[in-house]
Amino acid sequence: MAGRSADWLAHLLGVQGVGGSNPPAPTSLGQKSIKKAYYMRKIKVGIIGFGTIGAAVAKALMSRRQFLKEKSGLDISVVKICDKELRKKRPVKVPRKVLTGSISRVLYDPEIDIVVELMGGLIPAKDVVLEALRQGKHVVTANKALLSDSGSDIFKLANALDLCVGFEASVGGGIPIIRALKEGFVADRIDLVYGIINGTSNFILSKMAEEKLAFKDALALAQANGYAERDPRLDISGGDSCHKLSILALLGFGIAVKPDEIYTEGITGIEPSDIQFAREYGYAIKLLAIAKRSGRSVELRVHPTLIPHKHLLSDVSGVYNAIFVKGDLVGENLFYGRGAGGEPTSSAVVSDIVSIAKNMSDDYKSADYVTFRKDVDRVKKIEDVSMKYYLRFSAVDKPGVLAKISGILAKYSISIASVNQVQRKASSIVPVIIMTHEARERDMRAALKEIDRLSVIKKKTVRIRVEG
Ligand code: HSE
Repeated sequence: MAGRSADWLAHLLGVQGVGGSNPPAPTSLGQKSIKKAYYMRKIKVGIIGFGTIGAAVAKALMSRRQFLKEKSGLDISVVKICDKELRKKRPVKVPRKVLTGSISRVLYDPEIDIVVELMGGLIPAKDVVLEALRQGKHVVTANKALLSDSGSDIFKLANALDLCVGFEASVGGGIPIIRALKEGFVADRIDLVYGIINGTSNFILSKMAEEKLAFKDALALAQANGYAERDPRLDISGGDSCHKLSILALLGFGIAVKPDEIYTEGITGIEPSDIQFAREYGYAIKLLAIAKRSGRSVELRVHPTLIPHKHLLSDVSGVYNAIFVKGDLVGENLFYGRGAGGEPTSSAVVSDIVSIAKNMSDDYKSADYVTFRKDVDRVKKIEDVSMKYYLRFSAVDKPGVLAKISGILAKYSISIASVNQVQRKASSIVPVIIMTHEARERDMRAALKEIDRLSVIKKKTVRIRVEG
């Protein structure tokens, strides 16, 4: 029935229906590929990378083929899945003939319209994506490391060949943030994008705060759930958030920023005591990725951040992501959803496939062609950014210590908002917590360098930035 209704719709629209036969395939790239697609309602997909996400995408496409036909009028089939490890058990049953260990079998299969790159990493993913485009295939990828490193090259080639690159799954798992920035807010000048965009780190911090789990146990749990990257250091070092922030910056502000231009600090230095102290002061600690425009420059930074409990982001826990976007017309918006894991990410990948497949039927450049307007010229140096800070000094408990600390802070024009000595232990080390008003990062670094040299300070001072 569904096939028939899609045929009926196709008839009305004057295009070939789901059940129709295809015209002879053209042999060259570019415009001809688009023409070929115009008559074709059968879409063939090749997946490269059969890990957590690849398996979830294959499962969604195969088990929902009819469902997607009814919702989109397209018959999308998976014709090849490539991975170097084919014997591993996956949560989806795939016909043997679909599986291959050879990337070429996907890239050079003339049947395949869309290549879905889910290998992750830069090598060989970059070559795979570029070659897929050269072969006249549209590409869908979830690879944020690749896009933050080589997005410009990829989009340039895709545009030159009139092909689409879908990357909804690269940021925020299943949250449609890419589409929102590209389409929903196309009328807006974006002023601010910030949020929690690494599910693994958020999961770890939540488990440490709520269940008092040790860092390594929380990380192991995140890995077992399939949230973490193949190399989980990317998650906990802030690298994954940094990659995603560079993609958001490209979409939001039109500026191509390499990961090493973004100040990035992960969550490995966060101690349970800081989570507890922060909570007593009315704050949660979250790994935030922040992009703030001011004039023609933008602040881009990733770091653990104290946010007040009254702030909406403080309640975002577990693997959930949340992203604030402020546009000059639309005002403030909050996107919230599962930011990692097979199923939510497969939702985003499939939405890209359907969107591209629909565009293949239209002979005009649509939302899946990536274009940018440059709204800023430079990234502000982190040293010039002003923020509020939480400082935890490990100090000897004796008269005059506070005066020494506050004297140095004053020397660097850092104003104190509150001071608290948490315990009283004669002749041993005690935590002294200071919350500051806004201070420049450059001044804070210089002050802490000087303070940490004092004989009354026994450990490197913990410094966490505060927002909100
Ligand atoms: N490792 C990533 C995360 C997966 O934890 O958010 C989604 O990009």
